[in-house]
Amino acid sequence: MSKLWGGRFTKTAEEWVDAFGASICFDQKLVKEDLTGSLAHVAMLGKCGILPADEVEQITEGLKTLQKKADAGELEFSVQNEDIHLNLEKLLIDEIGPVGGKLHTGRSRNDQVATDMHLYLRNETNEIMGAVRNVQQALVNQAKQHVETLIPGYTHLQRAQPVSFAHHLLAYFWMLERDFSRYEDSLKRVNISPLGAGALAGTTFPIDREYSAELLGFDGIYQNSLDAVSDRDFIVEFLSSSATLMMHLSRLCEELILWSSQEFQFIEMDDSFATGSSIMPQKKNPDMAELIRGKTGRVYGSLFSLLTVLKGLPLAYNKDMQEDKEGMFDAVETVKGSLNIFAGMIDTMTVNNETMEKAVHQDFSNATELADYLATKGMPFREAHEVVGKLVLTAIEKGVYLLDLTIEEYKQASDLFSEDIFEVLQPKTVVARRNSAGGTGFEQVKLALTKADKILQVKEETLA
Ligand code: ARG
Repeated sequence: MSKLWGGRFTKTAEEWVDAFGASICFDQKLVKEDLTGSLAHVAMLGKCGILPADEVEQITEGLKTLQKKADAGELEFSVQNEDIHLNLEKLLIDEIGPVGGKLHTGRSRNDQVATDMHLYLRNETNEIMGAVRNVQQALVNQAKQHVETLIPGYTHLQRAQPVSFAHHLLAYFWMLERDFSRYEDSLKRVNISPLGAGALAGTTFPIDREYSAELLGFDGIYQNSLDAVSDRDFIVEFLSSSATLMMHLSRLCEELILWSSQEFQFIEMDDSFATGSSIMPQKKNPDMAELIRGKTGRVYGSLFSLLTVLKGLPLAYNKDMQEDKEGMFDAVETVKGSLNIFAGMIDTMTVNNETMEKAVHQDFSNATELADYLATKGMPFREAHEVVGKLVLTAIEKGVYLLDLTIEEYKQASDLFSEDIFEVLQPKTVVARRNSAGGTGFEQVKLALTKADKILQVKEETLA
């Protein structure tokens, strides 16, 4: 079988060598993008008078036929034709004859593949942004049910201060909001056309890059042909945003796993997102959360792999860059899958309000209140801290909590204490009073929910 670039060769490579160099087994994912890019390119060739109208027509029809066949799963690709670009060109020539060979006028696979990747990531980034929004919505829906549900807040995984469970969930809403805006911002750099940069130096044909860019819905063109064909920053950026997003998901997964353990029992995963054990009949494992936590690693891997591939490359295109694709495809599927599962898990989990409630009554997470109480009455905070520390020690020795000590014991510790401390120490009061901006006070949480609703509404409009 002769190669489309076979002219200067006197012998052909063996099949296993071809197979090593080929990317068709994975870049066939770009079939739609490649055909879309070609349609714009040939339209531009026609508009600029580089190809006559009848040839443009034939090529266009041929490309559309290939698209139909692709949709029907009827295209057959071969390793001998290396990649999606050469495979489609070969199939086009088979379809419409030698005129198909004119499609590649004023173009190189180097600007072609870059164009495909830009189109692909633009589409996928938008889809992922929609999926992020769905997770944010699931978090807000749960949060609305649990503004007044209390959960121990932790530092060092030691109970620190009680918080509203909604407040805890909304922390993730805001992380995802940053993820959303990272993707949104990256679209500015994704949506730029490399088409027409040629192999590396531009072309002698009187092409119109702005025109093909416009046909493809790009906001502009790369200003430098060398940069256009060798830039993969937009993929690095995508992977970096995705790595950060996965890190966020993974952290909440870790919490879901802890919370659904026998030790915490704060939540129960819905059966549809849990699995059983093949040997221990009592078990219900939070597999999906564990898997998302685990999959975070492969997205980090793709980011590091690409950064490493690129770091030593001279301008312009190098075959190394073919290694940019599998990690990107994998990250796209991993992120989309994880987000979809995640939204389902959050939507369907059951929250055990009572266990949480019990937990915040069985700890010393209201100790800060006592120190603040004394400080409000004029005692330097450092001294107040010491006084309360001693009270905590007394309670521990007696095997009780702060609410169980008597007013006499308090007064003995400091005469600034009076009866109202028993109200101050109630976990609900503790949370309600943290009404500083962005705090867990119920008023603040309700305000945050209003803001979140507004953001989701705007996002819905922009994505629609
Ligand atoms: N399959 C190649 C890739 O994915 C397409 C570009 C090939 N260009 C070249 N000059 N060999 O990177």
